Amino acid sequence: MATINENYLKLPGSYLFAEIARKVNYFKEQNPSANIIRLGIGDVTLPLPPAVIASLHDAVDEMANADTFHGYGPEQGYTFLIQKIIDTDYKPRNIQLDVDEVFVSDGSKSDTGNFQEIFGVDNTIAITDPVYPVYLDTNVMAGRTGELVNGKFGKVLYLTCNQDNNFVPELPKEKADIIYICMPNNPTGTTLTRTQLKTWVEYAKKNGSILLYDAAYEAYIQQDDIPHSIYEIEGAKDVAIEFRSFSKNAGFTGTRCAFTVVPKSVKAKTASGELYPLNSLWNRRQTTKFNGVPYIIQKGAEAVYSANGQKQIKDLVSYYMTNAKVIREGLTSIGLSVYGGVNAPYIWLKVPQGLDSWAFFDKLLEEAHIVGTPGSGFGPAGEGYFRLTAFGSQESTVEAIERIKTRLKL
Ligand code: MLT
Repeated sequence: MATINENYLKLPGSYLFAEIARKVNYFKEQNPSANIIRLGIGDVTLPLPPAVIASLHDAVDEMANADTFHGYGPEQGYTFLIQKIIDTDYKPRNIQLDVDEVFVSDGSKSDTGNFQEIFGVDNTIAITDPVYPVYLDTNVMAGRTGELVNGKFGKVLYLTCNQDNNFVPELPKEKADIIYICMPNNPTGTTLTRTQLKTWVEYAKKNGSILLYDAAYEAYIQQDDIPHSIYEIEGAKDVAIEFRSFSKNAGFTGTRCAFTVVPKSVKAKTASGELYPLNSLWNRRQTTKFNGVPYIIQKGAEAVYSANGQKQIKDLVSYYMTNAKVIREGLTSIGLSVYGGVNAPYIWLKVPQGLDSWAFFDKLLEEAHIVGTPGSGFGPAGEGYFRLTAFGSQESTVEAIERIKTRLKL
């Protein structure tokens, strides 16, 4: 009889957003006329920018002609896209990358989830608490986390982020081999300044750690002293992997395109103590298990870097940041403690006293017909908090705040 990967049995319940969808579907069945506003999952609502659409159409036409048709592409991504990424996202910040250091993929969720595969199972991982659940869950699946006791896995270092430290993680007291950092942060909306980020690079250098830096929300950074890439910090190219996505800046959540930067200088140790580049391992992993992002989609992503594309994605980000402001100001005006939403599309709020995160989820759904995300779904330190996204339409965001002000019995 075949046996299962027992590590999967250590995972509590279902994936957070699947659980929310289940609850909302049930509510909808019971209340078919309710006009539900969804500010839960961070899914964009605006259509793809016109420059992207035009490029997608052209690419579809190319596929209809034998001379311009594309079959299997390079698993790592086409050079036409990678070169644009390097020239637009990195060169202007004085970051030099080679084409074979950027891997185009179908999402940061997949890449941040898959990347742990190339590390030994005995590494100690550190995550912030609260955290984007994918980092933890994929390490649980791999058998790297130990057992779940009182809401925490025994072998994981949890870096608590709460009001007391302004949601800024402190360096681990014990030695962490692999550290996940997401900035701007999902779920709290926090960012790190250059000086703060420098301490992480220094920690990694000193301890032989690898930083897995998820910068999927970098386009939302508004303030000048916040780095957009970890490679803006000196020495980071020796210790950090960076994950970026077209989902949140260009609306690709349904279209799927992202990329991961794996500098050739980032190395980890073999059992015999030799230093080995992660770039060649990730290349081996991707060429074996991944077929690459479709040509058509990569042509769409390439258009993000055209002059029109750059202007259109700026407008898109600014639309959502206006929503963030509406949510921040609206909630603050009724006396709630609100965080994030300044350099990030997420607003993190303290739930009213006497309620836990899921109780507030139910209350918001029942009284105002609004869906958000319970903070406890992101980890034990998220208990008592709640996340709203700025990715709704402007009309529904304004309406949501109006409903919270008028319908919610606080
Ligand atoms: C979220 O709501 O946290 C995001 O949508 C997750 C994701 O992008 O996978």
